Amino acid sequence: MSTKVLFVCLGNICRSPTAHGVFEKLVADAGLQDSIQIDSAGTGDWHIGRAPDERTLQAASKRGYDLSNLRARQVTSADFQNFDYVLAMDKSNLKDLRAMTGDKTNCHVSLFLDFAESSWKREVPDPYYGGEDGFETVLELAEDGARGLLATIRSSGR
Ligand code: 4NP
Repeated sequence: MSTKVLFVCLGNICRSPTAHGVFEKLVADAGLQDSIQIDSAGTGDWHIGRAPDERTLQAASKRGYDLSNLRARQVTSADFQNFDYVLAMDKSNLKDLRAMTGDKTNCHVSLFLDFAESSWKREVPDPYYGGEDGFETVLELAEDGARGLLATIRSSGR
């Protein structure tokens, strides 16, 4: 049985696609692509069907991640049945997810950076209205969170 992970931000064009691509590469490099399934989604609906933000694509590409095939979609209530982990980029995303689930879910819903091992940050800051360095920060935090998440999934033996 595979473990299913969904990364969630607001627009699904900056932070969650970055986490998606970073985690996907880490999982593939570990040879675990058949046992871990990955997706990403937004709490908002503005960018449905669109590729990630150009600045996200550029910053990711510089570090060896190709996010160009990803397309934005919105979180649905079925996601809480289909995924084992639904991981929010910030507290506002988490609040929106909790409003959708109430207490009626068996899946793990938390902040993505709860799994980070190096950073003291708990939230991935929204880079949308900022400069290029914000996109670098998203990548650094995503790499940290992805490593910790993979370690947790491996140690849970799923
Ligand atoms: P994301 O960034 O949640 O990391 O994808 C944003 C993308 C778009 C908007 C806000 C945040 N927006 O307001 O359109």
